Amino acid sequence: MIADIIVDLQYGDCGKGKVTHHLLEGGNYTHCIRYNGGCNAGHTIYHEGKKFVTHHIPAGVFYGVKSIIGPGCVVNLQQFFNEINELEQGGIVCAGLIKIAKNAHIITDEHMQEDEKDTRIGTTGRGNGPAYRDKYDRTGVRATDVPELDEYTIDIYEELHNNENQVEVLLEGAQGFGLDIDWGDYPFVTSSHCTVAGALLNGIPPKSVRHVWGVAKAYETYVGAKDFQPKDQDIFNLIRKVGKEYGATTGRPRQCNWTDVNLLKRAANINGVTHIVINKMDVLKQLGTWGLRCGNDDRIKVKFTSEEEMRDYITATFSDIDVHFSYNPETI
Ligand code: IMP
Ligand code: MG
Repeated sequence: MIADIIVDLQYGDCGKGKVTHHLLEGGNYTHCIRYNGGCNAGHTIYHEGKKFVTHHIPAGVFYGVKSIIGPGCVVNLQQFFNEINELEQGGIVCAGLIKIAKNAHIITDEHMQEDEKDTRIGTTGRGNGPAYRDKYDRTGVRATDVPELDEYTIDIYEELHNNENQVEVLLEGAQGFGLDIDWGDYPFVTSSHCTVAGALLNGIPPKSVRHVWGVAKAYETYVGAKDFQPKDQDIFNLIRKVGKEYGATTGRPRQCNWTDVNLLKRAANINGVTHIVINKMDVLKQLGTWGLRCGNDDRIKVKFTSEEEMRDYITATFSDIDVHFSYNPETI
C-alpha cells in the first residue's frame, strides 16, 4: 500500500480541498479517504469551472476514484444523502464510488439538536462533539447498524489490506492542527484527530506513508468563540474581505491574524510533513502587506517590506521541506 496524507497546519479552511483535487488530478490513486470529522467540515472545490462545497464526501468522486468515509469520521445521514444528490445534479457520477466504513459513527438528530445549543466553543452546530462523545462512551450508533446505509458500507480492512490490486490511497483530513482535540487550543477545538496520526487510525500502516502534504494559508483564520483577531487593526478586516473569509459550512465571518510561525513549526514537526503548500498568497499581494508572527513570544510580529522577503523567511525556516506558494484560488 502507498498512502499520501493531507493535513491542515492551522485552523482549517487553508485549502485542503484544492490540494486534494490537484493531487487526484495528477496521481494514480485507487482510493480517497476522509479520515476525521463530520459535516462540520466544508471543503470548497472547483471542478471544471464549477464550484462545489462538500461536507462528508471525499474529493475522489470528482475523478472517478473510490471515495471512503473512514472509521475516524462521524456521518449524518440526511447530509450524506443530500450531498450525493447535489453532486449528481452538478454532473458528478457517484454510483458505486462512495463508501462508508462500517465502523464509522453516526451523527443523530439528537446530536445535532444538542450541538445547536452550544455557545461555549462556537461549534458549527453539526453534532460533531456529541457524536464523538457517544462513540467514546460506547453508546454510539455505527454505520453498520443503519439499514439505509447497507449499499454504502464496507469493511475498510478488507478493502485496503485484502485488495487484489495494488492500493494507492490519498487521505484527506478535515479541520486543522489548531483545532485538534489533543494539540489544539483546548477547549476551543473540535472533537477529532486532525493530524497524520488521526489518518493512520483509519487502518493505514505507518510504513505505507509516502508523502505528507501540510496545507497552510498566507495568514491565519479561525471561526469560533475565542478572541483571535487583534482589535483595532483594519488590515485584518481587509484580509477577510479580500480573502472572502466566511465559513463554508455556517457562513460565519472568520477572525483573521498573521500566520504564527511557531504553530506552523509544531504542526509541521508533529505531522512529519514532506511538503507544505501556503495558499492565498494572492490575498496579501493584492493588499501589498506581508507579516508573520515569529519568535518565542507570540506577540512579536515581523513585518516584511516585500513578498520575496516573507517567502525567503518561510523557505529558510522550513529548509528541509518542499514549500510551495500558491497564488491561484483554484489550483496550486
Ligand atoms: P465543531 O467541530 O463543530 O465541534 O466546532 C469546534 C470548533 O472547530 C469551532 O471553533 C468551529 O468553528 C471549528 N471548526 C469545525 N469544523 C471546521 C472547519 O471545517 N473549518 C474551520 N473551523 C471548523
Ligand atoms: Mg473548510
